Amino acid sequence: MNDKPLLYPEAIKRVQIDLQRAMTDWDFLSGVSGDGPVREFEKWFAGVAGGKFAIAMPNATSALFVALMASGIGKGDEVILPGYTWPQTLTPVLLTGATPVFADIDADTVTISPESVKRLISGKTKAIIGVHLFGIPADVIALEKIARDNGCILIYDAAQGFGAFYNETSMNHGPQRTTKIYSPKQWRKKWG
Ligand SMILES: Cc1ncc(COP(=O)(O)O)c(C=O)c1O
Repeated sequence: MNDKPLLYPEAIKRVQIDLQRAMTDWDFLSGVSGDGPVREFEKWFAGVAGGKFAIAMPNATSALFVALMASGIGKGDEVILPGYTWPQTLTPVLLTGATPVFADIDADTVTISPESVKRLISGKTKAIIGVHLFGIPADVIALEKIARDNGCILIYDAAQGFGAFYNETSMNHGPQRTTKIYSPKQWRKKWG
């Protein structure tokens, strides 16, 4: 059994101080207007993700929903996603009113099959969601080519992909993505 504390005393003290301050300084815990730990985390995260900005969200489901909404996806659009994934890759698609279209997975990597995605592209396809499952990256090179060739938005559900590498490329990097961090799972990107 692991007898190490999950949170060290210094970390607990810091959380207590931050929460105390947040009781009177309402902006403190905002990543937008505050200068507290959320802002600090977003800056650090943008750095490791190689991006200009990072926006902290309550969970990966709402981060995916915001990515879809920011991409203008809604009723009448089709979104291709893998048939085998965490259920909340699908929920945000349904919330936008778009039609989910399920692609096969690759037998070796269990991530979305680019060949299947190609077959499913239609005039209504607006976005493709690649999922890095169990820390195994989706075939980002093939997916980016398909998205580019067909004018589709590419979003990565990287809720389980933080820290993963595809060849030499970190899955933390890319034009835009959303991530979640918790143990033992840990990360999404949109072709803009
Ligand atoms: C691949 C994947 N996508 C989405 C989610 C939803 O994440 P959350 O529970 O943070 O909304 C999870 C949760 O583990 C996940 O593994």
